[in-house]
Amino acid sequence: METFTNAERYDRHAGRLGRKLYDRVVADAHEAGLPAGTRVLDVGTGPGRVPRALALAEPSWIVEGVDLSPQMIAYARQRSSAVSYAVGDVAALPYPDASFDLIVSSLSQHHWSDVHGGLRDLRRVLRPGGRLWIYDFRWALARASRAAKELFTEIQREPVRLTRWLFPLIARLSARG
Ligand SMILES: C[S@@+](CC[C@H](N)C(=O)[O-])C[C@H]1O[C@@H](n2cnc3c(N)ncnc32)[C@H](O)[C@@H]1O
Repeated sequence: METFTNAERYDRHAGRLGRKLYDRVVADAHEAGLPAGTRVLDVGTGPGRVPRALALAEPSWIVEGVDLSPQMIAYARQRSSAVSYAVGDVAALPYPDASFDLIVSSLSQHHWSDVHGGLRDLRRVLRPGGRLWIYDFRWALARASRAAKELFTEIQREPVRLTRWLFPLIARLSARG
């Protein structure tokens, strides 16, 4: 129950602080011009802000979220019926091979205990040619970038400017399956 309360508290604070990042993820997804029926997964979804916003912005897409924490998923499920959720570890995802056209993740990768295993399983569930976008603190993306170079193509790491600060705190690692 305490952890569920924490999910609520996280959602309240993350909503305030993360809105610009979540808006950016949705804008990037929209700009990619993906067709109706696109299958999207948000990894380390927490209370599900990103998939909720994606499902609202792109109602023809099939949007799913996964998180290690059953409490976060229980909370996320209560907040939207437009998104399907599952409990799972990024390194052992509960989906068949080649399930998704786009996989996103925000502010979760720095928590993953097995980053290489996570990237390997993300590659497995991404369809060939699909896109992976990991948004996280700039300094936290080094291991994921190294693993991505072994497993994906078209790797890019770019700063994500959300404020007027000189040095953006967040970067996006993008790759193709
Ligand atoms: C800081 S929260 C970010 C939540 C959400 N993506 C956001 O931007 O608000 C990090 C989330 O990653 C999840 N997480 C940590 N390790 C994970 C793993 N190995 N697999 C899946 N999710 C994980 C945590 O349970 C937590 O909900």
